[in-house]
Amino acid sequence: MKFVRVVLILFTASVWPWVMTTQAQTRSDTPDPGSLRADAAAIFLPIAPPLAPRDGASAQRIDLGRRLFFENRVSMDGNISCAFCHSPEKQASDGLPKSIGVFGKENPRNAPSIFNAALNFKQHWRGDRESLEEQAEKSLLGPASFGNPDLATAIAKLKAIPAYGEAFKNAFPNEAEPINSKNWARAIAAFERTLLTPSVFDAFLSGNTTALAPREQAGLRKFIDFGCAGCHNGAGVGGRSFQKFGVQTDYWKETGVETPDKGRADVTKDEADLYVFKVPELRNVARTAPYFHDGAVDDLTRAVRIMAKTQLGRTLSDADAGEIVAFLGALTGQVPTNYSPPDPYPDAQEHK
Ligand code: HEC
Ligand code: HEC
Repeated sequence: MKFVRVVLILFTASVWPWVMTTQAQTRSDTPDPGSLRADAAAIFLPIAPPLAPRDGASAQRIDLGRRLFFENRVSMDGNISCAFCHSPEKQASDGLPKSIGVFGKENPRNAPSIFNAALNFKQHWRGDRESLEEQAEKSLLGPASFGNPDLATAIAKLKAIPAYGEAFKNAFPNEAEPINSKNWARAIAAFERTLLTPSVFDAFLSGNTTALAPREQAGLRKFIDFGCAGCHNGAGVGGRSFQKFGVQTDYWKETGVETPDKGRADVTKDEADLYVFKVPELRNVARTAPYFHDGAVDDLTRAVRIMAKTQLGRTLSDADAGEIVAFLGALTGQVPTNYSPPDPYPDAQEHK
């Protein structure tokens, strides 16, 4: 222990003058947009809105998925749909520290935005869902989401709504019994894959170096140089790996929570996964407060400071934090036009 501390002090003493000079340099330099873009293009990937589906069945499947996403009659109390917690008004999140589901039950964690979730390598904070399909199917049973005791109960509710008979048949032609939980999941996942939200950052990455304001560019430079991009990278600016929350210092001492979530260790039962979480995507992050898996932090600037401290052992100046937050604001895209409840099926169909 003592040895480690001495080494740390020696290390800190030897790099400190270097840290100070690089800080001074980054502060006075306005980044050169051309080389900043080249650096960024090697780390991140631009996203584009998805192309329209080529065949009829996929279009029907996406349309059905949209309906199912906004459908509350499959939940045990009849009030909860996916959109209840992933709301169009809240950038596909819910604005709560922890979500409230069926019969007012509290979820153990915060609801992430599902925009661009198709880019995640796994789903959920602890990566305990492999795919969008697995996520959507298991939502039917979540005691604090839809609350069905089993899949048969959920599917019976779906079958009792006449208009779905036709809709599932069109979306899954050639299937004898298309209304089942697998197809519920496939349709919803197909809809979710359309929910990509490009922003001015993508225009910048694609070569328009004036798409980001100077302050946003300064923030991007620091996001890269300080090491944030070591974890938050790729098309989603995250969503590609598991990392410990609290590499340098215990996270709960910074966020102030009293009962820390053990993260992935509770899923894998492996000590090495203690306090490990999926690195979240930062697309739309300026609109999805509160932050972290437990929604412990309301303010983005504070969340950024906590990240610098816990993950990189760095204390940010007000100027650094402000610029990084400005850059994160440039990751906000538009709510896709199809992210809204569809018109109800015509009455004739509904009461056939
Ligand atoms: C009661 C609120 C609630 C409902 C209803 C709900 N979700 Fe979620 N959703 C959450 C919470 C909370 C999480 C995070 C869970 C975790 O990580 O343990 C989440 C996570 C997700 C994720 C993973 C996102 C990521 O970045 O990891 C996806 C995708 C998702 N939900 C889609 C859906 C779909 C589709 C439905 C409907 C079938 C649905 N949700 C219903 C609250 C809800
Ligand atoms: C070693 C990997 C790593 C580094 C470096 C890192 N992060 Fe993170 N970041 C994570 C993880 C893991 C989480 C999820 C924490 C949790 O469980 O709530 C996260 C969460 C976040 C969140 C909250 C997102 C949300 O939706 O709640 C923000 C904002 C963020 N990071 C920004 C940054 C910034 C800015 C930097 C650089 C100063 C940075 N991160 C550096 C791994 C990292």
